[in-house]
Amino acid sequence: MTTLLTPTDIARIVAAHGLPAVLRRMEEAITADFRRWPEFDKVARVAAHSKTGVIELMPVADADQYSFKYVNGHPGNARHGLPTVMAFGVLADVATGAPLLLSELTITTAIRTAATSVMAARALVRQDTRPGGRTMALIGNGAQSEFQALAFHHGLGVGTLRLFDTDAAATAKLVRHLRGVPGLKLQVCNSTAEAVRGADIVTTVTADKRNAVIVDASMLEPGMHLNAVGGDCPGKTELAAGVLHAANVFVEYEPQTRVEGDLQQMPADFAVTELWRVLTGQAPGRRSQAEVTVFDSVGFALEDYSALRLMGALAAELGLGEPLALIPRLADTKDLYAQLAAVQPALRAA
Ligand SMILES: NC(=O)c1ccc[n+]([C@@H]2O[C@H](COP(=O)([O-])OP(=O)(O)OC[C@H]3O[C@@H](n4cnc5c(N)ncnc54)[C@H](O)[C@@H]3O)[C@@H](O)[C@H]2O)c1
Repeated sequence: MTTLLTPTDIARIVAAHGLPAVLRRMEEAITADFRRWPEFDKVARVAAHSKTGVIELMPVADADQYSFKYVNGHPGNARHGLPTVMAFGVLADVATGAPLLLSELTITTAIRTAATSVMAARALVRQDTRPGGRTMALIGNGAQSEFQALAFHHGLGVGTLRLFDTDAAATAKLVRHLRGVPGLKLQVCNSTAEAVRGADIVTTVTADKRNAVIVDASMLEPGMHLNAVGGDCPGKTELAAGVLHAANVFVEYEPQTRVEGDLQQMPADFAVTELWRVLTGQAPGRRSQAEVTVFDSVGFALEDYSALRLMGALAAELGLGEPLALIPRLADTKDLYAQLAAVQPALRAA
C-alpha cells in the first residue's frame, strides 16, 4: 500500500512538534543529503511553460529511493482563488519501483524552501552578530513568507524583520501571524530600498512573471547576504545583473540554475559555487566579512526527496496518513485482467 499524506496530516505533524523543530529537522535532513551529493542521480527539472506560469517535474534518486515533485508557479493565481505555488510528490522504492508515499508538497515546499535558505545562509552569513540579533529584509510577504521569517528567526538569530510587499494586505497578514513571536521585532517599510537599508540578510520571495528588479547594486552594503528565492524560472528574476557581478554567488544544481535562476542573466562562464561543495568543505563559502554573498535559490529535487522522507517518517511516528490502494493488488502478478473482472464478473466468465 502507498501512504497518502494530506495538508491536514502535515499541519498535524507541525502541531505535534512545533514549526521551529520541524524547520530544524528539515534543515538537518537536507544538509545530510546535500553532503552525500555524489550518490544522487540528478537532472535539471522538466518545465512546461505557458503564458500564465509553469508546471515542473522534479525527479531525483539514490540507490534506495526515488522521488519526484509536481509543482507549478502561477503568479496571477490569486484571481482564481488558487495559490501561486501548488505541489505534490511521490517517494518510491528503487528496488521494486513501488510508490511508498504520495504526499501533499504545498506546505512542505514552504518548509523545505525556508530550511534550504537557512542551510545556505548558515554557511554564508557574516559571523559577527549584533545585540538583538541579525536584521533581515523580507521582500514579498505572500505564502512562503512566514516560513522564511520563522526559519531565519529560530535558525539564525534574526531578531528584526524589515517587511515590504507591493500588496499591503500581504504584509498585514504576515504581521498578524508574526506579531507576538518573542524576540522578533517587525518593521513595516514603504519600499524595498527602505527595507534593505542596514540589513544583514535580504530575502526576496516575490512572485511576478517577468525580469523584475527587486534589488539593484545600489542597495548592496558590505557583508550582506542575499537569499533570492523568487527568481526561479526563465524570464522571472529578482536581482539586477549588477548584484550578481558584485557578489560571490552560490547555487543548488548549476545546470538548473543557469536556466532558471537570477543567473540566467549572466554569461555562461560567470563563476558560481554549488552549495554541496561548501557543505562538504570542498569549496570556501564567504571569503571576507565585506564580501556580498548571494544564494540564487530555485529549488532542487533533492530538497523534496529529503522532505518526503522526513515527513513520511514523522507521519509514521504519529500514526498519520491513510493507506491508498494506488497500485492493483494481484493474486497472480501476470493476471492484471482479473482486476477488471473483480468489478465486472462477466469478464471472468468470458
Ligand atoms: N526557490 C524555491 O525553492 C522556491 C520555492 C517556493 C516558491 N518559490 C518562489 O517564491 C515566490 C513567492 O512564492 P509565494 O508562494 O510566496 O507567492 P505569493 O504569490 O503567495 O507571494 C508573492 C508576493 O510577492 C509580492 N510581490 C510581487 N511583486 C513584488 C515586488 N515588486 N515587490 C514586493 N513584493 C512583490 C506579491 O504581492 C505577493 O504578496 C514565487 O516566485 C515562487 O515561484 C521559490
